[in-house]
Amino acid sequence: MIDTIRDAKSGAVTAEELDPFIDLAEEIGRLRSEKNAVILAHYYQDPEIQDIADFVGDSLDLSRRAADTDADMIVFCGVKFMAECAKILNPSKTVVLPDRDAGCSLEDSCTPDDFQSFRDAHPDHMAITYINCSAEVKALSDIIVTSSSAEGIILQIPKNQPILFAPDKHLGRFLARQTGRDLTLWPGTCIVHEQFNERELVKLSVRHPGAKIAAHPECPEEILRHADHVGSTRSLLEYVTTCDASEFIVATEQNIIHQMEKGAPGRTFIAAPGADGKCDCASCPYMAKNNMEKLYLALLNEAPGIEMPEELRLRALKPLQRMLDMSAAKTASQNAA
Ligand code: 13P
Ligand code: SF4
Repeated sequence: MIDTIRDAKSGAVTAEELDPFIDLAEEIGRLRSEKNAVILAHYYQDPEIQDIADFVGDSLDLSRRAADTDADMIVFCGVKFMAECAKILNPSKTVVLPDRDAGCSLEDSCTPDDFQSFRDAHPDHMAITYINCSAEVKALSDIIVTSSSAEGIILQIPKNQPILFAPDKHLGRFLARQTGRDLTLWPGTCIVHEQFNERELVKLSVRHPGAKIAAHPECPEEILRHADHVGSTRSLLEYVTTCDASEFIVATEQNIIHQMEKGAPGRTFIAAPGADGKCDCASCPYMAKNNMEKLYLALLNEAPGIEMPEELRLRALKPLQRMLDMSAAKTASQNAA
């Protein structure tokens, strides 16, 4: 696998050297304007990172923002595949990720060699790949999708075209049902969404009979079948702010509850439980690697940065650009209708 992370140069400031009394929020603000940087954050980031970011969004909206920005530096507070997308779309900009080890279990489940063998075994199939994968796997794919763009994109593919879907089997199964298409699935899963427990979820909803269940499609089928709404992080946020229920059980990474509370004050949000009945399993250990200190150091040191061979970037750009074009085409046709 190609390592797309460029580490800090020798002599860069380390966490141990940081003045413990520094006002991180103030210093981040100062460096951001000094360096003409933009801070993009996913809904799964710590609340204090979400609050300092210029833009908080789901994977699709973050990719769009990264493609459109006129900043010189993009500080991507999310995981590596997201920062890689920003670099693929914006090669001339400096793209930094606060922690070089902020990965993703879905990306890890699908190595480029294994993915190539999957493609070779199905030569007549088109490969539609979830954005949660490495730049190398993107480069081997035909179209990239996110959870908010996937359904609309699959519906634009001719019905007689067989499709491979990787790497999330739960999202793939959900999409197959939504679109009526027979997708051949890669067996990857998200370690966070996989931990929600059906029995405990049912027990919780019995205790909260009025609560609506909002779930991300990376959840297993036995969780999704209890959901009142299934969608991307942005879609879940829209649901809880527009639905007139006053209580919600949220089956996705729990930091999104911070935005839900901001968008729908006065409503109650309960994180979906794991097998022990507790609500603390829904934390993504990769997203949690980023913190305010590392965000400050990434801005200061301009590292860890994303870098990749131009040949790889160009191959990964094609299916990523296709997603942006096809999701824009769908939005345009919806607006015209
Ligand atoms: P969204 O595209 O819905 O933000 O999902 C990203 C992700 O990693 C979910 O686990
Ligand atoms: Fe990957 Fe799951 Fe974390 Fe999303 S929540 S980044 S899919 S490990």
